[in-house]
Amino acid sequence: MADLSTKYLGLNLKNPIIVGSSPLTATLDSLKKCEDAGVGAVVLKSIFEEQIEGDSDALVDETREYLVHADAYGFMKGSSMERAIDGHLRLLQDAKEALDIPIIASINCRTNGSWIEYINRFVACGADAIELNHYIVAADREVDGSAVEKNYLSLVKAARKKVKIPLSLKMGSSFSSLSNLLFRLDQLSIDGVVLFNRFFSPDINTKELTFGSAHMFSSEGEYAQSLRWTALMSDELRYDICAATGIHCGDTIVKQLLAGAKAVQLCSVLMQQGLSTVSKMQGDVASWMDEHEFTRIADFNGQLAQERIADPSRWERTQYMRSLMGAKKD
Ligand SMILES: Cc1cc2nc3c(=O)[nH]c(=O)nc-3n(C[C@H](O)[C@H](O)[C@H](O)COP(=O)(O)O)c2cc1C
Repeated sequence: MADLSTKYLGLNLKNPIIVGSSPLTATLDSLKKCEDAGVGAVVLKSIFEEQIEGDSDALVDETREYLVHADAYGFMKGSSMERAIDGHLRLLQDAKEALDIPIIASINCRTNGSWIEYINRFVACGADAIELNHYIVAADREVDGSAVEKNYLSLVKAARKKVKIPLSLKMGSSFSSLSNLLFRLDQLSIDGVVLFNRFFSPDINTKELTFGSAHMFSSEGEYAQSLRWTALMSDELRYDICAATGIHCGDTIVKQLLAGAKAVQLCSVLMQQGLSTVSKMQGDVASWMDEHEFTRIADFNGQLAQERIADPSRWERTQYMRSLMGAKKD
């Protein structure tokens, strides 16, 4: 039987499937179910900077609904600072006692604020790593692109200074030069990056004339963006890439590993189809490895990373032209 073990953020995972931060990782009971399903690690439901700093009500009241993250919605308002932090730390502590798999704490942060002073409380409660989730919709016309990027870098820098345990950043893909930002993160001694976060999708209800949320869950084709950037960057960066968004089956996990991801994060497929899909996906990855005579993930990890392409932008453009020129009308 193929060996599915992998190393991500310096942590030994028995397989590359990580349950992403979500309601599946929000209670001790559901965390135990994740472990029983056989996953390699879990990322706890995020605590929000606003919960730590005690201004969650202000945020919900002041922010236009469609800019608020899906994960925060309906959960932030009224959450008092101490209650939020204590509850979160208790969950982390209980989970560390009850589970054997690595537990990654998640902080959803937007500024370089006082939450950084709290970060070592997560370490003291046994977090195996910290995942920063920087969710920002750059909608302020006074703030230019370099200022947005600077904010990402300064968050990581501040957190890195405070914690010695592995640190990762979960981020979106909308940057004018993502590769440049990923390189600059590399210089900050970060241990991993999660490519990519899936942002809240807005929609308009034409009956009610209201602005609200659309698809909470990803669909199966959404992994392409993550696959592109994992393949483009995995060989160029010192830190680990964890692929995320739209990963719904074993075949997509194999693709991400071939592109160079060290692990994958799953949420939608597990929430929609249940945790029993984990063993099916593991079986599919193992069968594929057997078929190709790979005994360990290291045997093929990154085999299709695109480091051998001298000019990736040009290559992408050629593929784009080819696909358009080859497209036929039905
Ligand atoms: C209901 C729900 C709650 C989520 N809560 C969080 C959260 O608290 N923190 C976070 O970093 N991501 C959160 N996410 C995002 C997921 O962890 C994941 O990155 C995203 O859903 C994309 O992966 P998927 O395509 O496998 O769903 C949430 C997603 C959903 C659907």
